[in-house]
Amino acid sequence: MQIIETVAALRSALKHQSHITLVPTMGNLHAGHLHLVALAKQQASCVVVSIFVNPLQFGANEDLANYPRSLEADCEKLDAAGVDIVFAPSVIEMYPQFDGQHLNQTMTVTAPAIANELCGASRPGHFSGVATVVAKLFNIVMPQLAVFGKKDFQQLHIIRALVQQFNLPITIVAGDTIREHNGLAMSSRNSFLSADQKNTAAQLQQELNAIKLQIQHGSTDFNALILAATERLQPSGWLVDYISVRSALSLAPATTQDQSLVILAAAKLGNTRLIDNVDLLR
Ligand code: PAJ
Repeated sequence: MQIIETVAALRSALKHQSHITLVPTMGNLHAGHLHLVALAKQQASCVVVSIFVNPLQFGANEDLANYPRSLEADCEKLDAAGVDIVFAPSVIEMYPQFDGQHLNQTMTVTAPAIANELCGASRPGHFSGVATVVAKLFNIVMPQLAVFGKKDFQQLHIIRALVQQFNLPITIVAGDTIREHNGLAMSSRNSFLSADQKNTAAQLQQELNAIKLQIQHGSTDFNALILAATERLQPSGWLVDYISVRSALSLAPATTQDQSLVILAAAKLGNTRLIDNVDLLR
């Protein structure tokens, strides 16, 4: 496995590769990321994993400085998983025009309005930052395929829109959410949780599944379901940012006509913001 830090060296390493699969990550890898790598390996192509903590997708008061970084351990996991190339650029390599604060010299992608809802409502600019770095990674690696997790359902939706609307010849493959034994969705940010909080954290997914079950039994009063779930979460210390029932295709608020739904949530336990979602057909 090669570990490459510059765009020029990566381009040169990929020069003779005709089929490339990219798995973009921010590192601190867990079994969820490795599941995406396994999906990439199934494509029988050259597998590139990027590890880059993207400053453009963090708000001023978010955890950019504290975001867990573990490049050496990550590379060991990726080597064992059969990855061909790790691309781990510096911030200056990815954004030579960015001074760490002001974006006025930096070309960015403007995400569509859906980026201002759900997670975007409390993280202004987040999805434009994601779309910008992913567009750059696509241009640098030029993969035929790229793998993303359904865990970040809104992100996946925006990346599909990026590929479609910018006419990028890249197939997006979506990987299922990998969970801890108690149902908690794996996340790099879970390392911020205490043992007690990890137990409590499983409740988020339980509440989403409870809503799913009630919808499958015919309930259409989504607001009542959301309110009841929120009220069950609060006493255990959750600060609910949102729970929302949406069309899985458009991410628009669900109507009674929609067959393919997704229930999404973001909530804080202590200082740690967790997200999760479950999808369903009815
Ligand atoms: P990161 O949070 O490191 O996630 C990298 C990829 O792993 C994303 O596609 C995400 O959806 C997927 N993933 C995370 N947890 C997962 C889980 N429990 N099961 C399955 N897949 C999971 O998402 C990002 O990085 C960044 O926004 C990025 C796309 C790399 C752009 O900077």
